[in-house]
Amino acid sequence: MRTYLVTGGAGFIGSNYIHYMFKKYGDDIRIINVDALTYAGNLENLKDIENRPNYTFVKANICDKEAIAKIFAENDIDRVVHFAAESHVDRSIKNPEVFVQTNVLGTAVMLNCAKASWELPDGSFKEGKKFLHVSTDEVYGSLPDDENAFFYETTPYDPHSPYSASKASSDMLVKAYMDTYKFPANITNCSNNYGPYQFPEKLIPLIINNALQGKKLPVYGDGKNVRDWLYVEDHAKAIDMVQEKGKLFETYNIGGHNEKQNIEIINIILETLQEMLPDSDPRKAHINQDLITYVEDRKGHDRRYAIAPDKIKRDLGWEPETYFKEGIKKTICWFFEHEDWMKNVTSGDYQKYYEDMYSNR
Ligand code: NAD
Ligand code: DAU
Repeated sequence: MRTYLVTGGAGFIGSNYIHYMFKKYGDDIRIINVDALTYAGNLENLKDIENRPNYTFVKANICDKEAIAKIFAENDIDRVVHFAAESHVDRSIKNPEVFVQTNVLGTAVMLNCAKASWELPDGSFKEGKKFLHVSTDEVYGSLPDDENAFFYETTPYDPHSPYSASKASSDMLVKAYMDTYKFPANITNCSNNYGPYQFPEKLIPLIINNALQGKKLPVYGDGKNVRDWLYVEDHAKAIDMVQEKGKLFETYNIGGHNEKQNIEIINIILETLQEMLPDSDPRKAHINQDLITYVEDRKGHDRRYAIAPDKIKRDLGWEPETYFKEGIKKTICWFFEHEDWMKNVTSGDYQKYYEDMYSNR
């Protein structure tokens, strides 16, 4: 039975990936999820699988060398899928240091421990071992408002925020291990994800939650920044395909070919909420464009991201399967069905963060 070590599995994409993997492979795989449970880690995301005999949760920080080395010593790990990171650009602008610690130093610990455990005396690596580093399209910088400009795997890195600079550094470390040691790894650079379990400080869940509560919908700058949105399950599938069918040492860009301005996203959410709520629901009365509030722009706000997923389509046959209209309905439906999840998340740390972030806007 193949054993996966997933880092950051209690976060948004990690928990969706774990669900996807158990749905696909059932009892044929074993997953060890290591997560420090920062503000973004929520074990409620994994409530339905936590009692599976082939699932183990370990609370540990990826910067803790001893804890990570112990997991490798006690388990014959075949695959590492490395999600754990500080992931929110706005937080990185306020407090960059923890981004360097987790994203750069934590990745170095993961690479060192995997290398030490998988390396043979002649410097080669045990058969079949693979490390997948989950990264972002933000490392490529910002594109002009020209619909023919895309990020390719060959696009030079040009990160702007502390978050993207830390992710770019971690990518470089992985590349260095591949070049220097022939360490068996891949890197994936993906565009913006949305879907169930996304923490409501990110645009889509924040807008859904605020609209339902009749709160203002904060739009940074002119609202015309473009992001390329991908349904999270399509990302989970791509990661699995890269690890199973991808060529070692290669980078794969993953994206939805679904570019939208932020203001378009907000209007689609408002329309979809109106469509989905029954006429008897009193919230329908306040869900409209009057909630939209233009606020101070994000510092250094990248204008446009757009992935060209040509390589992963051509070489591995991966394509996004979820149209945005369908994905956003599924996401809203999930939030309707998980009101308690949202309540639990929006109490506690998130609330303090929200006040800190938006009190002057
Ligand atoms: P998230 O913030 O929802 O989850 C991050 C998880 O990592 C949390 O469970 C958190 O507790 C854990 N974590 C943080 N610091 C840790 C540490 N020091 N040790 C152990 N665990 C730690 O993030 P996400 O949106 O699920 O993103 C996951 C990965 O995918 C990140 O590497 C991110 O850069 C990348 N990515 C995200 C997106 C997106 O749109 N969300 C797009 C492309 C790539
Ligand atoms: O592109 C991939 C990246 O997507 C990932 O690497 C990051 O981990 C992930 O957080 C996401 O980063 P963004 O900064 O693009 O996501 P966010 O949801 O924070 O913002 C999306 C866009 O919406 C961005 O242009 C800023 C804008 N925005 C965001 C918030 C939270 C607003 O206008 N208002 C808001 O309140």
